This record gives sequence, structure tokens and C-alpha cells, in this order.
Amino acid sequence: MTRFDPSGPLRGRLRPPSDKSISHRAALIAAMGEGETAIEGYLDAADTRSTLAAVEAVGARVEGAEPGRIGTGLRIGGVGLRGAGPATVDVGNAGTLLRLLPGWLAGQVGEEWTLDGDDSIRRRPVDRIASPLREMGAELECREDRLPPLRIAGAPLRGIAYELPVASAQVKSCLLFAGLLAEGETTVVEPAPSRDHTERMLAAAGAELRREGDAVTIRPAKRLEPGRLSVAADLSSAAFFVVAALLVPGSEVELTGVGVNPTRTGLLTILERMGAEVEVVDRVERGGEPVATLRVRPTALRGVEVGGAEIPLAIDELPLVALAACFAEGTTTIRDAAELRRKESDRVETVSAALNALGGRVEPTADGMAIEGTGGLRGGAVESHGDHRIAMLGAVAGLASREGVEVRGMEAAAVSYPGFASDLGSLLDRA
Ligand code: S3P
Repeated sequence: MTRFDPSGPLRGRLRPPSDKSISHRAALIAAMGEGETAIEGYLDAADTRSTLAAVEAVGARVEGAEPGRIGTGLRIGGVGLRGAGPATVDVGNAGTLLRLLPGWLAGQVGEEWTLDGDDSIRRRPVDRIASPLREMGAELECREDRLPPLRIAGAPLRGIAYELPVASAQVKSCLLFAGLLAEGETTVVEPAPSRDHTERMLAAAGAELRREGDAVTIRPAKRLEPGRLSVAADLSSAAFFVVAALLVPGSEVELTGVGVNPTRTGLLTILERMGAEVEVVDRVERGGEPVATLRVRPTALRGVEVGGAEIPLAIDELPLVALAACFAEGTTTIRDAAELRRKESDRVETVSAALNALGGRVEPTADGMAIEGTGGLRGGAVESHGDHRIAMLGAVAGLASREGVEVRGMEAAAVSYPGFASDLGSLLDRA
């Protein structure tokens, strides 16, 4: 049990940890590459450690992964696009690894792999990748035809045109990887734009991709040459301090080096509509991604409607939108977000339960939540359910609450942000 008491203001400047999504892709694409790829700013967290172990298991050489050095000295010797060896891969808690890696493996004829992970992973659907991959010719088996463990027998693939039933960067990325090894072109049509880190990184590594409206098409490739890769700070981790600084009176926080790819910044647009002023300054392009500093101060918030194409752009930050909504005037409605139920926990239920336990008025719905602003939260106890984002949500709620919050299962934060408590402490010390 970890306690987060009502705090004084958060003050100061920090670089949040590196981006989890981009780190997963960097390790996988480096493993597919020819020769050695240096990755600057690789995230040192449980999920991205699982990806390093996975690429090692299929034969890639991983060097410089010691704690403290991983962010500056990581190098991966690739096995080439068609050189992955057979393995049993433990993906741990990493849904992104579970969905992306099979796309690369499925087209490598003559080898077999099994992917499995923790209790939460065993509840995450893989039929969303298995069914389009089978259309391409892949041979896959999973439990109840839907859940891990997932077994893959490499088979010849042919390109398809596939319309995603829900916007998912994981499924899109999986199919783009598979398209590298398929015969003919592979096209993925998205119902709404989702994060495009895979497209950016593959194009920089020499893959032939084109985007036409809501469709992205990839051509088969002989080889990838990723060169040097660099990973920005994670907006999804910065988001906890953005919302904390908005809610705790007197705060003034600067978050540096943060990735502000427009396919990730839905939270900022939503908060702006709620009345917040988050300044985005010092924009530069780094490693093929836009990076900036975020400046945050407290603001009075009002309830808003959130839904449609905005959802994939803010999917991992919707728990924080719900928290901010408890402090806003009026009601906030989150719709079209049924995907929240398929994350590390069922986040419609875990977020509603957490905020209601603290005195919030949150009603879970089939595809989102209705949150009545109550001008603040009393406090109480929150259960993380092993979900890193629920643990950190509880911590931020505690700082902004009247009586403090006990978080059960705070250690889950290590999945994406092992240094969360000490970074938070550094912003509070300077107050
Ligand atoms: C991710 C995509 C999103 C997101 C997840 C990371 C990625 O999932 O929720 O945390 O790195 O591609 P979906 O693609 O399933 O929406």
C-alpha cells in the first residue's frame, strides 16, 4: 500500500521517461534490420525489457542494456527480415509486443514460435491480428481461437487489403510488418487515424510505404537499414504530471523532450476544450518525430463531450480525462471507447471503480463513462488491478484529493514508468 497525501504545488522541470510505443518498435525494427542499430533513449521499463528479451530469443544480439546505460548505449545486432530463429517468447505484460511481433514472424517459412505472458496478457484478445494474418496465409493457433498463448508456424504470405474494424495501431503495425514479407502489396484502412510511429520508422529504414487518405500501403522489402534510432519522452507518461499540475493549486511544471506526434496528442486537445492552457513550446524534429516542451499551470475546468476520431488519439490518457472531469464543472461524457475494456485491465470498470471509491460520480457505460464534476475528490483507497496506468492515476488523484489516497499495487507503475515515484517526489521537493 502506498499513500499519496494532498500535496503542495508541483514545481520544476523534468524529462519524463522515453516512449513505450516507440521503444517497442525500435527494438523490433532493429532486430529485423541488417547489421547493428544504435537506439538512443530506449525506455528502461518492464514492458520494453520484455521486447529486448523477445528479440534476443529470436536471435538478435542485444548490447548495452544494463540499467543506467540502456538509454544511451543500447545496440541491437539484427537478424535480417527473414532470419528469426524459433523460440518461446514471454511477452510479460506487453500487449504491444504480443500484437506486433507475430506480424514479423508469420511470414518466415519453416520456423515456429509460441508467445505467452502474464495473467493480464492471457485476457487480451489476439483474434484481431490472427484473423487478418490468416487471410494473408499465416498459420496461427490460439486458445479459444481468441486468446494467448499464440502459436505461429511461418508460412508464405500474400498481401491483402484489410479494413480495421476498430482503430488500432497495434493491428495496423502487425499487418505492416507482415506486409514486408508478403507477396504483393498490403493495405490497411483505418476507421480513424491511430499512432503512426511504425510507418515513420519503417519508412526511415528504407521500406516503401504510402498513405492515401485513410489507407496505408506497404510493399514487400528485401532488407531494412534502420541506422540510428532515437526515442522521445512519452506523452502518455508526461500526462500524469500534466493533469497533476492542472489540478494542484500553485503548480508550475515543465516537461521536456516530450513526443508530440499529432496521432498521440488527443489529451492536450481535450484538456484545451475543458479550458486548460497547456503550452507546447520549443518544437523540434528528432528521430523522425516531433518533440516539444509542455508547460502546465492549474486552470478551472469544464465538462466536455469526448468521442469519435478523438478516441484513438487519447486512448491511454482517457483515465486521466476521467480524473480531470471529476474536478470540472458540469458533466463529461466519454463515448466510442469500448477499446478501453481491452487494455491492461478493463479500464471502463477499473477507472470508474477507482474514482467512485474516492468520492467521484462516474457511471460506466458500454463504450465509455459519464463523469459528473463534483469539484474535487475526497480520497480513499484505489486498487491498481496490476494496471500501471491505474496505479499512477491513483497517485495523482491522491495529490489533488482532500484526504489522500492509498494505492494498492503501486509496483505496477514499473511496466511503463519505474521512476514515477521519485520523479513525482522531485517535483514536490522543489515546491
Ligand atoms: C499502442 C497502441 C494502443 C495503445 C497501447 C500502445 C501501440 O493500442 O492503447 O497502449 O504501441 O501501438 P491499440 O492499438 O490496441 O489501440
